[in-house]
Amino acid sequence: MEQKKKIVFLTGAGMSAESGIKTFRDAGGLWENYPVMDVASADGFARNPELVHRFYNMRRADLLKAQPNEGHRLIASLEKDYDVYVITQNVDNLHERAGSSNIIHPHGELMKVRALDDDTKVFELKPDAIETTPETIINGHHVRPHIVFFQEAVPMIEPAIDIVSQADIIVVIGTSLAVYPAASLLHYANSRAQVYYIDPHPAAVPSWVKVIEKGASQGMKELIETLK
Ligand code: APR
Repeated sequence: MEQKKKIVFLTGAGMSAESGIKTFRDAGGLWENYPVMDVASADGFARNPELVHRFYNMRRADLLKAQPNEGHRLIASLEKDYDVYVITQNVDNLHERAGSSNIIHPHGELMKVRALDDDTKVFELKPDAIETTPETIINGHHVRPHIVFFQEAVPMIEPAIDIVSQADIIVVIGTSLAVYPAASLLHYANSRAQVYYIDPHPAAVPSWVKVIEKGASQGMKELIETLK
């Protein structure tokens, strides 16, 4: 049985745009309406945890109304022909809900919280808990969003680098490549890897990256044709 090729997707907020989830830096994006350092930084959480809890609960409520889009589903469908890994900067669970199996969230997960006094205690919030669970105490533990805030370390970046460095194909989708260390991942591509970038308004990338200037779903259809 021939070894399946390894294809690694590096996705950002644009991956979920067609599911109705706002991106961060597009016109009308999240950071246009919320002071990022108040709602998504370690200092902001220390200053006003309630504001941060409310911000993430609002994003959870939006997520519950969203569905995976065709781009998410096409990525999941490739698992029959490839060894597929998804490294997503997104904290939503749309790749999971589309059926992808190997997913890493270097920036954390929106539907999870963790105990402030023991960061190995991670709790998955059930959809209906968004309204009822007192968002700040679970099982007697004060909790925080299981999100990597600005100013915090990105522990999952190491395993992500390992996976990218072994990829035969790398596909960057829907990220402005503005936030590090996630934005540096594509530079860990090995010399024989094919690298693609699907984005309607792509950021500047090296010439060895093949840019598909389309949205996630259309771009994925074009990529799959190219890979055949
Ligand atoms: N399909 C594909 N890409 C799209 C679409 C679409 N339909 N619509 C917009 N995009 C692209 C934009 O052109 C842009 O390049 O998605 C990208 C969104 O960029 P950002 O809003 O900066 O999101 P992202 O790159 O994921 O941000 C990285 O910053 O705020 C932090 O932690 C947060 O993970 C986030 C990180």
